[in-house]
Amino acid sequence: MRQVIKFKIKRFDPMGAEGNAPYWQAYNVKLDHGMTVLEALLKIEKNDDPTLSFRRSCRSAICGSCAIMINGTSKLACHTQIAPEFEKHGEMVIGPLDNYQVLKDMIVDFTPFWMKMERVKPYLVPKKEPKGGWVITNEDTKVIDASQKCIMCGSCNGACNSQEIDEGYIGPSASAKAWRFVGDIREGDKRLRLDRISQEHGIWDCVRCVSCTEVCPKDVAPMTAIEKLREEALAEGLDDNPGAKHALALVDSVKRVGRLDEATMTFKTLGFLRSLGMIPFGLKMQMHGKMPHPILFPAIGKLDEVRGIYKARERQRKNERKKKG
Ligand code: SF4
Ligand code: SF4
Ligand code: FES
Repeated sequence: MRQVIKFKIKRFDPMGAEGNAPYWQAYNVKLDHGMTVLEALLKIEKNDDPTLSFRRSCRSAICGSCAIMINGTSKLACHTQIAPEFEKHGEMVIGPLDNYQVLKDMIVDFTPFWMKMERVKPYLVPKKEPKGGWVITNEDTKVIDASQKCIMCGSCNGACNSQEIDEGYIGPSASAKAWRFVGDIREGDKRLRLDRISQEHGIWDCVRCVSCTEVCPKDVAPMTAIEKLREEALAEGLDDNPGAKHALALVDSVKRVGRLDEATMTFKTLGFLRSLGMIPFGLKMQMHGKMPHPILFPAIGKLDEVRGIYKARERQRKNERKKKG
């Protein structure tokens, strides 16, 4: 006999009897071999409830339209089999993607997603072609390979912790798209592009929680793209913002004393005036014995070894730059 699995689905219908309040509804689904969550939703829609709303198109993990929350994680419904999911969680809890405004049931408003894409100019602005045309090597392609695989499903934005607290944050998907062009050797607008995304709500607001990379169904690794964008932005001298200043202060602190000198880092990140606003916080830390002395901050032993790592990395960088020409 085929197993029957209960689906607990988060519903929302602004025109329905429940008004603006989301509510939960349960449906029983007879499991077929290898059945996906999308197939179950289609079955429910056909047999039990034609009002259930969700997006889908290709059913093959290509179009990116069926991303939803499945047991608390952003996933493609067409690419998620029920059996292993049920075995792992002991239930099937389905809902719309987090961090988006819900229009109806699992249909969310993608307008902010597309606006963020627009912010990064998602197309190549070619620089002057060299004599004899472009020669694109395998290595050149590899650099941007992952970011080209994005299917715009929006799962990463749904899982992003920075986006949860700041709707304006550029987000992982648009950042990965930005890297697609910044990392392209033919790109002519690299600096302008990097400048745009280095501003407030840009790449420096990522807290490196890795959630985007974990949920991406296409291994785009948006967080790695953000790290590369930050590196390129610094290489272009775009460091007049708190995020870049903080990163540089951290590098400087470890080089100077072998560890994080938080007091000096705060000062370097925020500047003198804004650091004054941190005094109450500093006093609280002082009361709990957690405030490092701002002047007498001793370096660790074997600092030479730490500095040796810096020197080795600098040599590595020089070689990389030479290779790039
Ligand atoms: S790593 Fe950054 S971009 Fe990715 S989910 Fe976390 S905060 Fe968002
Ligand atoms: S980066 Fe991955 S998760 Fe994000 S939109 Fe693209 S394919 Fe989807
Ligand atoms: S229906 Fe196209 S990705 Fe799922």
